[in-house]
Amino acid sequence: MNIGKLQNTKKNNNRVELTFEKSKIYLEVITENIVRVLNPCWKEDYESIAIEKDKSVDTDFNFEFKSGKVCLTTSSLKLEIGDNFTFTFIDKNGIELLTTYSGERKLRQTLSEKSKKLLEAEGHDVADENKDYKVQVLFKRFGDEYFYGMGDKTGFLNKNGYKYENWNSDIPQLHHENMPALYKSIPYVMVKKRSGQPFGLFFDNTFHSYMDFSKESSDYYYYGADNGNLDFYFMIGDKLPDIVEEYSYLTGRAPMPQLWTLGYHQCRWGYESAEDIRRIAHKMRENKIPCESVQYDIDYMEGYRVFTWDEENYEPKGELIKELSKDGFKAVCIIDPGVKKDEGYFCYDEGVEKDFFAKDTDGEIYVNEVWPGDAVYPDFGRKEVRDWWGENHKRLANMGMQGIWNDMNEPASFRGPLPLDVQFHIGDRLTDHSEVHNVYGHFMSKATFEGMKKITGKRPLVITRACYAGTQKYSAVWTGDNQSVWSHLRMLIPQLCNLGMSGFTIAGTDIGGFGGDSNPELLSRWIEAAAFCTFFRNHCAKGQIMQEPWEFGNKTVDIYRKYVELHYRFLPYIYDLLRISQETGAPVMRPLVYSYENDPNTYELNDEFLVGDNILVAPVVEQGATKRMVYLPEGTWVDYWTKERISGGQYIIADAPLDVLPMYIREGSITPMYAPVQYVGEKKYDTLELLIAGDTAYGTHYQDNGEDYKYLDGEYNMYSFKYADGKLETTMEHEGYERYDDIKVVRI
Ligand code: NOJ
Repeated sequence: MNIGKLQNTKKNNNRVELTFEKSKIYLEVITENIVRVLNPCWKEDYESIAIEKDKSVDTDFNFEFKSGKVCLTTSSLKLEIGDNFTFTFIDKNGIELLTTYSGERKLRQTLSEKSKKLLEAEGHDVADENKDYKVQVLFKRFGDEYFYGMGDKTGFLNKNGYKYENWNSDIPQLHHENMPALYKSIPYVMVKKRSGQPFGLFFDNTFHSYMDFSKESSDYYYYGADNGNLDFYFMIGDKLPDIVEEYSYLTGRAPMPQLWTLGYHQCRWGYESAEDIRRIAHKMRENKIPCESVQYDIDYMEGYRVFTWDEENYEPKGELIKELSKDGFKAVCIIDPGVKKDEGYFCYDEGVEKDFFAKDTDGEIYVNEVWPGDAVYPDFGRKEVRDWWGENHKRLANMGMQGIWNDMNEPASFRGPLPLDVQFHIGDRLTDHSEVHNVYGHFMSKATFEGMKKITGKRPLVITRACYAGTQKYSAVWTGDNQSVWSHLRMLIPQLCNLGMSGFTIAGTDIGGFGGDSNPELLSRWIEAAAFCTFFRNHCAKGQIMQEPWEFGNKTVDIYRKYVELHYRFLPYIYDLLRISQETGAPVMRPLVYSYENDPNTYELNDEFLVGDNILVAPVVEQGATKRMVYLPEGTWVDYWTKERISGGQYIIADAPLDVLPMYIREGSITPMYAPVQYVGEKKYDTLELLIAGDTAYGTHYQDNGEDYKYLDGEYNMYSFKYADGKLETTMEHEGYERYDDIKVVRI
């Protein structure tokens, strides 16, 4: 960075100001492990959207300015800075982790106009902008880095060799491994080197940004942005889980959900009437496939007007919801941000009157097109707009709606993208779409979460498609419009593992694939791979063949039921993991490298994952395969189906006929389970089963009412278990809720 000589420095509590000839840089010691680096090239007093409170704690650190160089040291790291803002982060063993690259970028040769025309003529994408970014920092590539995180980006677990963009994008076409961006922007990467400690980088900038992990050159990797500050957090830890904990300490953690929300959901964009929803609900019960909700996609609205109900096709308001609730179904509906431009429609009229919609630069309300035709966009960055939007959910909650699914909030638009200069606010500050785009979904989810929480007093279920770093505090996510293809089944593992390590511990993909036609084998393998997902929903699009399991014959129904039931058996374990996640950010679904980072065999495992520490899952993701290679890390693993004990630290070949999901239980673990039910609430969970692997085993379990916030006042139980010498010892670490009548030991 060409900002000249480092001239002087000023320390004020945890903040250090560095004056260079042409610019200032601020360092902020947040904790001994986290340092913020800010080059306010755009704005000095930027208030983060991802990080909501001041997270800095009183930390001892040393600071020296000698011979033109700065050296800042905490108990965990050292940061050296020189002229032109060259810097190096060093771990406590003296190993350089992150250092600026001092050469130029190796920009690719610019295409001639003639070549561009030729490429365009055949419909090729013309290479992206080939220039330095307004905000840019290049890091030297040591060569031994593995890159994880980045939210929902496509491709593989390790992001090495790929370039990504942070610009929330609605992509209905096939999501392939080179996709620069999908619906979410999480500019956060965890870097694991073979030597030295792992570290994380979070670039807090909501403008369109770019992260290249040595695609352009093996000499460096870089971050670039079209605008905003260079504002990043360096996080160091002894192990990868520490980095996840630090990142989620900054940006927040997914709060405990209601238990039922973790169960199975059925959906289709194309249940077009109350009769469709009723029929599917009945079929779920007839086929004895547990199910919590048959979700309402956009057709339930009157002419796609949000917060309305189409009484003609969906029967009088609230009646169907009430009827199905008698059979245990909860109601979840979609809400999009686009408000129909329609005088006389309350939501449009109110928004116009209160001046709540985004405007163009001439001061006119900006109009584009979404499902309802001409539509306008609420200015969600303003608190009063969010409060209004949140309150509107009363109309749905009064009908019995219990969960809200936020879609199209990139924001999507059918008449071309919203121009970058459409006027929005962040708080009271007027800004434009270029800054707000990536946080539009975030603000919408926040509005929905806060509204539903206030109205119902329960832990809200919000599911969003678009989001930014930190949205996990308000919403679960799904990965948008995937397709019924094997590559998407395969991709769900790295995608959900990276989302999990990026804070989104409640996440899922459309089971069976949204676009395209599924088939018996693909759907069977998909329900197996998804069996431990924290958001567990089959969904598909209009025009595709029906995707409920019975459409594919009895064999598929049997396999499907087996794995939905398996999910319900492990529900208390998933819930336990989410309780831990609320405290530490630890993902439920995690790649093996997260727990076994000293074992290089785990660094690029794309097709298996862990659920917490106790279960290793290795789904079949290849068409036609009935066996697969599985890597088992150190320890002893027990095949869940055959009870065979297998030593870790080796690859094995697992038998996996169509109805078998290879899964292994860690010897020495205790995993809580429930008997399967048709829906959460069908029967009281009065018996806890403990799956005990080995002669000596340990575990814990958390229990509360699964619905509201009473646990915050101590209404919960925390059990700790030890199994040894054929006996189970139970200790109550905390007792504030009705205990189980019975705790059963199931040995494996
Ligand atoms: C796009 C969403 O991704 C999809 O899940 C939904 O069914 C359609 N919009 C229609 O609402």
